[in-house]
Amino acid sequence: MRKKVIAGNWKMNKSLNESQELVSKIINGLGNDTKCDVIVCPPFTSLSEVHSLIKNTPVKMGAQNMYHEESGAYTGEISADMLISVGCEYVILGHSERRAIFNESNKSINNKIKAALNKKLIVIFCVGELLEQREKGITTDVVSEQITKGLDGISSENMSKVIIAYEPVWAIGTGKTATPQQAQDVHSFIRELIAKIFSSVVADNLIIQYGGSVKPDNASELLTQKDIDGALVGGACLKADSFLGIIASA
Ligand code: PGA
Repeated sequence: MRKKVIAGNWKMNKSLNESQELVSKIINGLGNDTKCDVIVCPPFTSLSEVHSLIKNTPVKMGAQNMYHEESGAYTGEISADMLISVGCEYVILGHSERRAIFNESNKSINNKIKAALNKKLIVIFCVGELLEQREKGITTDVVSEQITKGLDGISSENMSKVIIAYEPVWAIGTGKTATPQQAQDVHSFIRELIAKIFSSVVADNLIIQYGGSVKPDNASELLTQKDIDGALVGGACLKADSFLGIIASA
């Protein structure tokens, strides 16, 4: 049985004070008995302080991005070691906003995934099609290319440290969620693809999250689909109540 994993991607939101306030409310609302894994991904500037608040709680922390090089003259970038030094166990890579706004390619995402896994970070690897690609009927081609190129050179052993987040780009921040069936179809396609690239054991153990306008009122119908093992939540994770509502559905 795969455990459900709910992650909150705070994106470029929350000052240090606001971050402390939000994570404190999440911790208080959760208690100690969570049946799913809960991950918060605050902005870089809040990681260290959020980490001191989540110590001895079930909440884990991730970053929203990193650079693949170890150190050096890369102004504005953050390395895997830096993330680990402030308490990150996870890192989101390949988010569609990184791909679209910051021109990240499958190749650069692959470099980042390799670097993160080398340092034993758990990677939340995002894939998903644009609306025009879905309308053209090429969703699985797009997702397949993103996964094949993004995971190129990754070993089966390292796949235990990879979570795939399927996020149809047209559903991110738009209020339009994929129907449970649309999401399930792509999730099951992804699991079959992973079985072909790696093995059925890797595929069976792989956590595949859905992301794109997940809210407390649509979470349970998504999360009860056979191949949906959790959610990557954007907008709805910025308020403790709605994030806790999604966790409760899981
Ligand atoms: P959303 O974002 O929940 O606001 O649609 C999801 C994401 O971008 O990870």
